[in-house]
Amino acid sequence: DAEQHVLHEILAANRHLEGALLPILHAVQHQFGYVPAEALPVIAKDLNISRAEAHGVMSFYHDFRDHPAGRTTLKICRAEACQAMGADDLVDHARDSLALDWHETTKDGAITLEQVFCLGLCACGPAMMVDGKLVGRADVAKLDAIIAEARS
Ligand code: FES
Repeated sequence: DAEQHVLHEILAANRHLEGALLPILHAVQHQFGYVPAEALPVIAKDLNISRAEAHGVMSFYHDFRDHPAGRTTLKICRAEACQAMGADDLVDHARDSLALDWHETTKDGAITLEQVFCLGLCACGPAMMVDGKLVGRADVAKLDAIIAEARS
């Protein structure tokens, strides 16, 4: 089918590279938004590595996901400058109110929660990024508004 076809094109374009697994995983995630569970054994076989190895690499790099992301991706900065501005409260609130750990998605598919380490907005911390848009001077109220909108 179409997905298989795309996967085979990605393999053909990358399998000759040294350390081909990473560029292949990136390309697959770019195409599909995640790395489908069915794709991993196909990739492993193509590269002549074990499934366990492919799986190990994928879980080592937290950029990869094995499920589609939520409709909104919320990233909270946890680097030093933002921490000094109270990012931890934001983090606690996000994790509690969404009942998510990092890299997880709410059951309704609305929100994926990610941590980042510096968004370059240190002067206006704590900082967040919502679907690629920076949010400075973030607080619990702003966070709640973002969550409500993502779920509406
Ligand atoms: Fe958070 Fe730089 S430390 S944006």
